[in-house]
Amino acid sequence: MALDLTPEQKEIGRQNFQRVVGKLAEADRQQAASGSGGVTRRQFMQGLIAAGAVAPVTAAAYFGYSNSGFQRNPVKAGLIGAGDEGGVLVGEHNPAYVQFIAYSDIRPSNQVRIFQDERARNPNSPRRGFIYHYGSNAQRDIRLYEDYRELLANREIELVVIALPLHLHAQVAIEAMRAGKHVLCEKLMAWNIAQCKEMIRVAEQTDRLLSIGHQRHYSMLYAHANEVVQSGVLGDIHHIRALWHRNNTIRDSWRPEIKPEDRDALAANIRRYGYRSIEELVRWRLYKRTGAGLMAELGSHQLDACSIFLGKQHPIAVTAVGGKHFYKDDREVEDHVYCIYEFPGKHYDRSKSPDDINNDIVTVTYSSISTNNFENYGECIMGSKGTLIVEEEKTAMLFGPAAAQRATTVTATVAGGRPTLDASSSTDPGERRAADVGATALGIAPPSRGYREELEHLAYCIRNRDQGMQSDRERLQPRCGGRQALADAIVALTANLAISSPRTKRIVFESDWFDPAKPAVPPVNTQVESL
Ligand SMILES: NC(=O)c1ccc[n+]([C@@H]2O[C@H](COP(=O)([O-])OP(=O)(O)OC[C@H]3O[C@@H](n4cnc5c(N)ncnc54)[C@H](O)[C@@H]3O)[C@@H](O)[C@H]2O)c1
Repeated sequence: MALDLTPEQKEIGRQNFQRVVGKLAEADRQQAASGSGGVTRRQFMQGLIAAGAVAPVTAAAYFGYSNSGFQRNPVKAGLIGAGDEGGVLVGEHNPAYVQFIAYSDIRPSNQVRIFQDERARNPNSPRRGFIYHYGSNAQRDIRLYEDYRELLANREIELVVIALPLHLHAQVAIEAMRAGKHVLCEKLMAWNIAQCKEMIRVAEQTDRLLSIGHQRHYSMLYAHANEVVQSGVLGDIHHIRALWHRNNTIRDSWRPEIKPEDRDALAANIRRYGYRSIEELVRWRLYKRTGAGLMAELGSHQLDACSIFLGKQHPIAVTAVGGKHFYKDDREVEDHVYCIYEFPGKHYDRSKSPDDINNDIVTVTYSSISTNNFENYGECIMGSKGTLIVEEEKTAMLFGPAAAQRATTVTATVAGGRPTLDASSSTDPGERRAADVGATALGIAPPSRGYREELEHLAYCIRNRDQGMQSDRERLQPRCGGRQALADAIVALTANLAISSPRTKRIVFESDWFDPAKPAVPPVNTQVESL
């Protein structure tokens, strides 16, 4: 993102964002103190700012959870799928909230790898393995089940964390909830939309919590970026540009090597585990029966973020193209995709057609390509008064409206709770204070991507929901539950439908698709091909 910005301009953008976050927090405090309301979701900051705190705000304080009622009894968990993402979740989890006591995987190489601290090879790796958290006894204490159904029968396990290939998400999540377990299932929620709706139904029937791993819902950076957007400081938003570009031409990350020990161990019984071949198991992202391409793997995260920035709206329509534009191998999914989503704007008039030139539309363009990572990934929200860029889940930058203001310090004037961007001096004491408050409010740097917090928050909900009142039970829900993730899956899979439909490149979303109680689904991935 932000290709044309110099490092100095990026630094100005980061400071702009920090100051405006600080201004918004202070405005809330003043409003609350004057008794004229204020934004309750940031009320914790009142005390923080009043006390002149300098320690970074924790995600637990920001999102309003703690493990104080756990009485040293973390939620007992089992991991199903100990591959790349399973390793990230293990590495990032906090054992004071969640204690892994079992795991399941069918690949011998990953059964071993999940214990290993990979920072020995790559100091920045989030995969720190069971050993990091549980010490040298981990291998003795954390039980392996090759058959995940046996793990589900373990009565001690309260929470099942699913990091399996996409085609298995619904099946395993449903079996887990029927076995009495709460579930964190990785994104995309499921391979098709009927399965997503079934997962929501089963969660309701079994009274289990179902959380889906779109981790941006637990990122402090995204939460504050969203507060800036919702404050109106960017003016009217009409365009978001989002992208995730990779260059897989040297080492294709979707075609990992097949380890000899996995080939040997699984050769005879691969179909028993639901795969046609060892290639399909290890390279599941390349095939339509087991994966759903770039929109499921990457685009779903970012369209999830865009829909939050746009007030959790569902899109009106999507137009998309893509193809196997580089790889001439046996893969079935596109290696380049380009989408245009039309979302309702703030002044969208539902009595008018979305095609009416006077209607208020926000256009989100999204691309994901596999041959050039020059821009990498992020989202750029373009308003009539300002631009906000969130880059690689790590940095947010804020700029004023005109091109010249890329190099300009902007601050916010908050009057009557409504902030506007201006270009007053960043050196006056009020602005310096705003920068300090902003830094405190934004929490630790670099920011957590949210994996740790999604598990912490789910554990908090699990531990507290049975003790409280009905209103507590409604509050004690994952921030990305079934309904939100259903919408994310519809948004991603319908783009695939547009890409693969030779004539109908623009598809209009139907409201019933988003309603878990209604059977209507987009006509994509309707035929489940089992072995
Ligand atoms: N939230 C994120 O940022 C993020 C990032 C990467 C991946 N993911 C998601 O995580 C999931 C897993 O992706 P990954 O990259 O870890 O894939 P992976 O192939 O590295 O890991 C999948 C693991 O599941 C195991 N497995 C397959 N079938 C099994 C079965 N029947 N029983 C037990 N184990 C089985 C495999 O052996 C493998 O170890 C996917 O849904 C992916 O979209 C999410």
